[in-house]
Amino acid sequence: MSCQAVLVLPGSAQSAALGEVEVGKPGPGQVLARTLRVGICGTDAEIDRGEYGEAPPGAERLVLGHESLLRIEGTGQLAVGIVRRPCPELCPNCASGRWDMCTTGDYSEHGIRRLDGFLRERLVIAADGLVPVPDALEPVAVLVEPLSIVEKAIAEAWAIQARLKWAPKRALVTGAGPVGLLAAYALRQRGLDVWVVDQRPPGSPKAEAVAAVGAHYVDDIDKAGAAFDIAVEATGYAPLLFAASGLLARNGVLALTGVTSGHHTVSVDANALNADMVLENQVIFGSVNAARAHYEQAVADLGDWVKRWPGATERLITARHPLADFRAALGKSPDDIKTVVEVGG
Ligand code: BGC
Repeated sequence: MSCQAVLVLPGSAQSAALGEVEVGKPGPGQVLARTLRVGICGTDAEIDRGEYGEAPPGAERLVLGHESLLRIEGTGQLAVGIVRRPCPELCPNCASGRWDMCTTGDYSEHGIRRLDGFLRERLVIAADGLVPVPDALEPVAVLVEPLSIVEKAIAEAWAIQARLKWAPKRALVTGAGPVGLLAAYALRQRGLDVWVVDQRPPGSPKAEAVAAVGAHYVDDIDKAGAAFDIAVEATGYAPLLFAASGLLARNGVLALTGVTSGHHTVSVDANALNADMVLENQVIFGSVNAARAHYEQAVADLGDWVKRWPGATERLITARHPLADFRAALGKSPDDIKTVVEVGG
């Protein structure tokens, strides 16, 4: 049996195209699943630009898509696919289920690196690479994967801050894309006063998404105030990283979650940065990917949000395209938050 899929030729620009792929039969420990929908993020656009991505060993093309919502054939269980698989060497982190902290760097990622992704009608997947989702969360569960990125960054921040008695009150989020907004929601849920900075004008859909959970939106970082106990950088725009670090409170922590390819030279007062970090015990750390526990936390938090803020989480999905129209999903407009491809019903 074969099915339709979105395939890319890693390294070539604008290569994404619909094609047929073999589905295969599930072997031991595997299940057959149908893809309901797939979220599109900056990484997918980067892969389509030929700047990132790697085909599976022996293959020329890679099936795109890593933010999934699947239905398992037979049981009918809804599930989200875990993006990363452990390295073959099974480094100590991969061996203990922390593939997000892989030491060798030899990990694989569905739809990104060495493993086909989820932008296809059907697939065979390892049962232990799935996170179950209750049916009630079907409308929002495609957000589990991007939220897992946020859950990891937040969990890391809290783990780091176990170094002191920490009662965070003020949070800064730079960027009101999906990761930034999900971070804002997660930090509001944890009771913080949250300030989100983005370039969109006040009253725009991103600003409204911020207001919907009682967070503050500003279109200039200079309007956000200072003394933030925690900051989450979600743009990958390097100048904002330094701006955000300058707004940290004493003992504050800044999590970097975004990347931008290419180069960007900025001039910083390195002495001031060093002095602030030393004299105020500050931490800046990077965070990528997520382990199973972060996906499970994402499922739990989405369940809380849909009750706490009716309609708000659903409205983060601002555009839907059928599989045949996947290209429209790869090029989003500045007011779009999460764009999804509706693969199957
Ligand atoms: C994905 C992560 C992945 C990272 C780097 C992100 O878009 O959400 O799961 O680890 O890209 O490839």
